[in-house]
Amino acid sequence: MSYAKIIGSGGYLPPRVVSNDELAAELATRQIETSDTWITERTGIRQRHIAEPGVTTSQLATEAARRALDDAGVNAEELDLIILATSTPDYIFPSTACLVQAKLGNKGAAAFDVQAVCSGFVYALATADAFIRAGRAKTALVIGAEVFSGILDWNDRSTCVLFGDGAGAVVLRAAEEPGILDAQLNADGSQMKILHAAGNVVGGQVTGDPFLRMDGQAVFKMAVTSLANSAQSVCERAGVALDEIDWFVPHQANVRIINFLGRKLGLAEEKVVVTVDKHANTSAASVPLALDAARRDGRIQPGQLVLMQGVGGGFTWGSVLARM
Ligand code: ACO
Repeated sequence: MSYAKIIGSGGYLPPRVVSNDELAAELATRQIETSDTWITERTGIRQRHIAEPGVTTSQLATEAARRALDDAGVNAEELDLIILATSTPDYIFPSTACLVQAKLGNKGAAAFDVQAVCSGFVYALATADAFIRAGRAKTALVIGAEVFSGILDWNDRSTCVLFGDGAGAVVLRAAEEPGILDAQLNADGSQMKILHAAGNVVGGQVTGDPFLRMDGQAVFKMAVTSLANSAQSVCERAGVALDEIDWFVPHQANVRIINFLGRKLGLAEEKVVVTVDKHANTSAASVPLALDAARRDGRIQPGQLVLMQGVGGGFTWGSVLARM
């Protein structure tokens, strides 16, 4: 039986950095009050990267994918599977995965998008793992990429300060040794109201509300409960004790959620990868960006055990436990 092993990673952030102070000053021109103090204390976010108008998810995704392929030493032609997680696709169709495939110069690989909002990367990674374990793919590219700035209501201070744009990617290859040990995905569609962008295109017109709306406190509660249960359950299934985890790479939405989870799971602060201060919440891109940052700065080493977790709209959540 084959396992899926992460053999490379890459990340890309659009160059424009917007600090909390800059954002607060910009919102103030529209009589919307916020401050660096409020944002930092409630969320841990200090800045975010924002794509220039016209920059698309496939562009960010392709940059991250190139860096991941380069890191893995894999040519795009070798890929037989491309899965891209996003809630901000370039088009209604074709999938953003197909657009990235064309930009990379690959022909023939299966390519499709996964839509699980901030859990998207974990969903995509678990899907690629299942393909590889089943012998249906050998070399897979898994990407999380978003231009969330395009679906934010910049007049709503309770949401617009929380998000940023970016892309992260990993390359997986079939291997005899793990690799990904186990994954668990869950959803509860009855909770869609707490986090959604309920717009639609009908007759060429957007109907409904195309902007992200969120009940922050409900999301906070749901996130900590579902992720704590998911971590315990995936570790139990894999026969791994929580204290054996070397690195915890959670979805980067809010440092308070991350700290609460780390404490609940008994994981030492030094084992938790945090990028939300620099990237804000990049939705499907947040976990691969954090993973890539910690691989590149030498924290995550080959052979170490990494727990990745996503949580977001749907409501969706999931965990992937991987030996690097
Ligand atoms: N600046 C200043 N004041 C603000 C801002 C802002 N940007 N946004 C809201 N406020 C005000 C509110 O109006 C409210 O004022 P009031 O007391 O006069 O009514 C006050 O701050 C408190 O608002 P709350 O919503 O109660 O603040 P809370 O402490 O819950 O923090 C937050 C809000 C940060 C959204 C928090 O609920 C949270 O982190 N929730 C988790 C959701 C999350 O991270 N979502 C990301 C996407 S989902 C995901 O990725 C899982």
